[in-house]
Amino acid sequence: QTTSSETVVVTADRMLDVQSGRLLDQPVVVITDGRIASVATGNARPLIPAGATRIDLPGKTIVPGLIDMHVHLTSNPKYGGYTGLQFTDSFWVAQAAGNAARTLRAGFTTVRNVGSDNYADVGLKQAIEEGWIDGPRIVPAAYALGATGGHCDETFLPPSFQRVSPAMGDSPEELKKRVREQRKYGAEVIKVCATGGVFSRNTEPGIQQLHEEELKAVADEAHFWKLKTAAHAHGAEGIKAAIRAGIDTIEHVSFIDDEGIRLARERGTWLGFDVYNTEYTLAEGKANGVLPENIEKERRVGTLQRENFGRAAKAGARMIFSTDAGIYPHGDNARQFAVMVRFGMTPLDAIRTATWNAAQALGREADVGSIAVGRFGDLVAVDGDPTRDVTLLERPAAVVKGGHLVAGG
Ligand code: ARG
Repeated sequence: QTTSSETVVVTADRMLDVQSGRLLDQPVVVITDGRIASVATGNARPLIPAGATRIDLPGKTIVPGLIDMHVHLTSNPKYGGYTGLQFTDSFWVAQAAGNAARTLRAGFTTVRNVGSDNYADVGLKQAIEEGWIDGPRIVPAAYALGATGGHCDETFLPPSFQRVSPAMGDSPEELKKRVREQRKYGAEVIKVCATGGVFSRNTEPGIQQLHEEELKAVADEAHFWKLKTAAHAHGAEGIKAAIRAGIDTIEHVSFIDDEGIRLARERGTWLGFDVYNTEYTLAEGKANGVLPENIEKERRVGTLQRENFGRAAKAGARMIFSTDAGIYPHGDNARQFAVMVRFGMTPLDAIRTATWNAAQALGREADVGSIAVGRFGDLVAVDGDPTRDVTLLERPAAVVKGGHLVAGG
């Protein structure tokens, strides 16, 4: 048995350095055993080991593999409302394998899965790492924590069905235990629902559902175990309570007020506005079986969320790319870039939310989010300059994960 290392050389016309925002000419990226060993640009020509595999992408621009900080790989928008009950539980894991493959081919080489039943995201991650199925690198949250009867509980069934999420807690002590349980079974980030939401029954997006001391217990306990935290929060009070509690990323952020934006900037809290999915839900939700009350909530949330995204971007809040894929079809993640640009962000800043910013918010700058020595060899190639036309990211010409061509090329 020989243990030979595998070297891959990627060449392209241009490379986007997301930190400086500069386009560099003639990149040569050498990837050894999945990690970037060297990056040369311009006239610098690196030594290419004999026998290296070549991935030549003439005419293309390469950017770091994209990161979506808010997906649900087990969810499928096709089965809205009660229509999902026709399937057995393992159906959701089986179809999630297809969703994972689609996500990867779309250029998203890393995703954070912020909530799934049955620890399915942990199993998906393991199956991808073992090479049985194709998919992105996954940072799993397993079950989302929350209040009994809140957005992250089971809210669609009558009491005789006795459906209760195992991650509900109704005091700081209970929620601490829920953090430990999720970590025990594979969670690498802790997700908590701080307010009501759109796609649950008998909850209001604008209304807070956990007390600040409960949110603080979740944040403190997760941090104690060296885990990051993410809060689902639409309403202004819930958003501010989650920021003050020390939650690392606030998701949805729909009704954030000026004080919330100021607090987030002061604390360095990351904000993730899922501004694409409104289009999909309003166009397809009814046909997919989404209940009228949920579509009505989407109407109330969508417009304000986009305006507030623009305000927060202008104010200089720290932003991550969070799309809530699963509400719209997996693989369409990059469509959110154009909406972010439409509502006030530059293309470069939008690309940063899904690369360098996301890596920082994950605490994984050493692994993902930039094309630099030591990082995973995760790259996306596009046909022109994405800092001029961000929609190019919707049609990647090639996707490389860990030095392997997984799409196009
Ligand atoms: N999971 C979120 C919820 O149910 C999705 C919100 C989607 N709508 C939006 N405008 N971002 O609350």
